[in-house]
Amino acid sequence: MTKHVALLVAGSMLTAFGNAVASPEMVRSYNCTACHAEDKKKYGPTYQQVALKYADEAGAAEKLAKKIQTGGAGVWGNTPMPAQPRVSDEDALAIARYILSVK
Ligand code: HEC
Repeated sequence: MTKHVALLVAGSMLTAFGNAVASPEMVRSYNCTACHAEDKKKYGPTYQQVALKYADEAGAAEKLAKKIQTGGAGVWGNTPMPAQPRVSDEDALAIARYILSVK
């Protein structure tokens, strides 16, 4: 119960500062989970692999946000990721930050 309230408070504070809070639920709602899992290889790379690869790269969140929206191939192999035009700029960035935080 206490934990729940704390999470709610933290969530509204983040919103107050203008940051969308991404979560596994948000990623699931966009169907990313059809091809991605945090730690199990599916059609696309795991979020752990992605977080490791870009751990030291400046601007990685912005770069991945763009890739989430436009899709593409060649970074992890020849299998292409389809564009995800339903994802807003704000959600794409929030999801990219969330993926980069997966360890
Ligand atoms: C139809 C399968 C599919 C779906 C759906 C999909 N992806 Fe991907 N994703 C891939 C593949 C395949 C790659 C590897 C692309 C490459 O090698 O450049 C990839 C790569 C990525 C990467 C790494 C990009 C890079 O350049 O290193 C991220 C981040 C990512 N996906 C996030 C998402 C998110 C978030 C969603 C949902 C909004 C999503 N994906 C939906 C298949 C998918």
